[in-house]
Amino acid sequence: MREPTTHPEWQPRVVAFLCNWCSYTGADLAGISRLPWSPAVHIVRVMCSGRLDPTFVVRAFRMGADGVIVSGCHPGDCHYQKGNYKALRRVHLLKRLLADFGVEPERLRLVWVSASEGGAWAKIANEMEATVRRLGPLRLEPDPRRDEACIAYETAPEAEIPPGPPFSKGGAEVSSSAERGVS
Ligand code: FES
Repeated sequence: MREPTTHPEWQPRVVAFLCNWCSYTGADLAGISRLPWSPAVHIVRVMCSGRLDPTFVVRAFRMGADGVIVSGCHPGDCHYQKGNYKALRRVHLLKRLLADFGVEPERLRLVWVSASEGGAWAKIANEMEATVRRLGPLRLEPDPRRDEACIAYETAPEAEIPPGPPFSKGGAEVSSSAERGVS
């Protein structure tokens, strides 16, 4: 584990991939409602969390992000039906992949934020900034193995991707995950 930085000029950078239909609208609501949330978080809008190519996350880290948030509609609410389930599996795998390259799993967080949850978004963004500040800057060395692994992951058949934690619509597990986000 790296030592947290005390360098006064360092400012954390977090890239957030937000689905268009729920999470982006939720973040927009936070802005409209004038809720304070971290300026360290930079949003990239994708149509669905299922659009998240794992290489997006790796690239974000390689290009200087200290943390990444992936946010989609709550389970069962994806506008493309199963995109957030795909995101869940991908993030689950990505955390393991990133850990192999020395990236703390807490630097990648998957959450569910609906269009009406501006407050939840503000809280998540602020929490992520605090997490990254605690961990310190990510100093990712160039590593071709990491890129190869990412490509191998992306080209693997879907059937080889192990399922993430079980959940079902309306189940208790979904509710608790939704409350705290899935990270
Ligand atoms: S449209 Fe929001 S997660 Fe798919």
